[in-house]
Amino acid sequence: MAVMTGERQTVDHGATTGRPVVIAIANQKGGCGKTTTTLALGAALAERGRRVLLIDLDPQNALTRGVGLDPGRLGLTTREVLYDGDSLADAAVEGSSPNVWVVPATLRMVRADLELSAMRGGDVRLREATAALTGFDYVLLDCPPSLGALTGNALAAARHLIIPVDSEPWALDTIDQLFEQADEIRRYVNRRLRLLGVLLTRYRTRGAASQQVAEMARERWAAELFTTTIRDSTKAVEAAIAGCDVIRWAPRSPLAHDYRALAAEVETRVDAV
Ligand SMILES: Nc1ncnc2c1ncn2[C@@H]1O[C@H](COP(=O)(O)OP(=O)(O)OP(=O)(O)O)[C@@H](O)[C@H]1O
Ligand SMILES: [Mg+2]
Repeated sequence: MAVMTGERQTVDHGATTGRPVVIAIANQKGGCGKTTTTLALGAALAERGRRVLLIDLDPQNALTRGVGLDPGRLGLTTREVLYDGDSLADAAVEGSSPNVWVVPATLRMVRADLELSAMRGGDVRLREATAALTGFDYVLLDCPPSLGALTGNALAAARHLIIPVDSEPWALDTIDQLFEQADEIRRYVNRRLRLLGVLLTRYRTRGAASQQVAEMARERWAAELFTTTIRDSTKAVEAAIAGCDVIRWAPRSPLAHDYRALAAEVETRVDAV
């Protein structure tokens, strides 16, 4: 399975048997930390000894670039997996941390809403692909900022949903439509889908705004809100520019510490199901 993709090789991942835990990271609001969380949570889970596959479902491919891959030099991508039935194992390439692999995305997926809805089984292509996957403990799905066919595929494939919410006053208002889509998918396609947690990101300790949002979020979601909050930190932007996850980029930073705490909480919540 040593297919050259860009400058990296796909990896033979046979160590972990059994089915991976599939987690969708979704919110149709742009810029709330989905991609940063996918990368950093993946790296933090890997640091805990897990084998992790990150799947870029966003045609804007920030995750792909976020692990330093050149979008102009990709081999198989999420598009070939969804459209042509190529396997995730064949499309996976090494990520930015040990034990993390990535299925990259391409801008050519930009009309996926139209294209997937015209395909037979277009809403469950990713579910089929993840069901055939072994060799990983976790699969994290980085969704685009929309509620179209790509996020639909993620929710149909996932057992768990994490919703990152940035700590801005209007951020909480966007989530109702996401819950509606999740409810619909739970009803017709994927009965096992459940909310693993709402995650407050870009939390600012200075000023009252973030605290107010946190209070509103606690009132609204209670135990469904992760205890861990992710602080606002320039390390996130630095890591993205460097094409790296923040655990690798700044391992001793408070932001990396937040994501390690999140990984621990995620594992506890997953185990509790
Ligand atoms: N904790 C943080 N502190 C500071 N900046 C952050 C933090 N998390 C993310 N960012 C920055 O905010 C921007 C948006 O983050 P990110 O790309 O993770 O969001 P997203 O939800 O994936 O966006 P999109 O909806 O466009 O896919 C990026 O520039 C990122 O570096
Ligand atoms: Mg993103």
